[in-house]
Amino acid sequence: MSTALLEARDIRKSYGTGTARFDALTGVSIQVQAGESIAIVGKSGSGKSTLMHLLALLDSPDSGELAINGADSSQLSVKQLNRLRNEDFGFVFQQFFLTPNASVLDNVVLPLKIAGVGARERTTRGMAVLEQLELADKAKNKAINLSGGQKQRAVIARALVNNPRVIFADEPTGNLDTVTGRLVEDTLFSLNKDHGITLVIVTHDEDLAARCDRQMFVRDGREVHAIALDQDAA
Ligand SMILES: Nc1ncnc2c1ncn2[C@@H]1O[C@H](COP(=O)(O)OP(=O)(O)O)[C@@H](O)[C@H]1O
Ligand SMILES: [Mg+2]
Repeated sequence: MSTALLEARDIRKSYGTGTARFDALTGVSIQVQAGESIAIVGKSGSGKSTLMHLLALLDSPDSGELAINGADSSQLSVKQLNRLRNEDFGFVFQQFFLTPNASVLDNVVLPLKIAGVGARERTTRGMAVLEQLELADKAKNKAINLSGGQKQRAVIARALVNNPRVIFADEPTGNLDTVTGRLVEDTLFSLNKDHGITLVIVTHDEDLAARCDRQMFVRDGREVHAIALDQDAA
């Protein structure tokens, strides 16, 4: 098998210290191949978001290794890490994290601004992704005035604007009604099928998990081979 795009080897992560210490991940290994879609599934508190944050190099494990394209992440410079996060990774979270009073376009081009792309090119590329997500007519609206589904599509547009290789989505449909959630899912899977973007999706939604090529089940900070999901898990 070729080198995995992302790999975690026996990673552990605890929060807090002393009696307040909580072991969120107790030895997890995972490989994500370029072009696949994988669901990380489990009940609330099982460690899904922690695992995704570590895979996305947003946080460091207490022990274990993380690699991207076979390169040990602990060997990367801060500059290389920032570039990876900003240019190769796109993020879609349950909370939209849009700046409410900024325009949709300004929200979407933020990663380009961080990358130092000039104003004219930002607008061109921002409008192109907004077209792709059928939001071009909302470009000048304030983000706060979008519907829930439009907000999540704006977040996907922002995740896409840098042409990422991987989209990390944490409960991407958690705040949406079923029909809107399904449309947002369709958008993510078409990016996977048509553009080869790798999807890492954290979810407790069995239907969404089933749409992914592969599922990884997490319970109490470790991988398990099957899991019963509670209806009310989140
Ligand atoms: N920053 C933090 N400080 C303390 N505990 C945390 C922190 N983040 C997560 N936890 C705890 O770690 C466990 C796993 O959290 P998380 O990875 O968010 O789970 P999931 O996404 O599966 O709901 C939970 O018990 C949570 O309360
Ligand atoms: Mg979570």
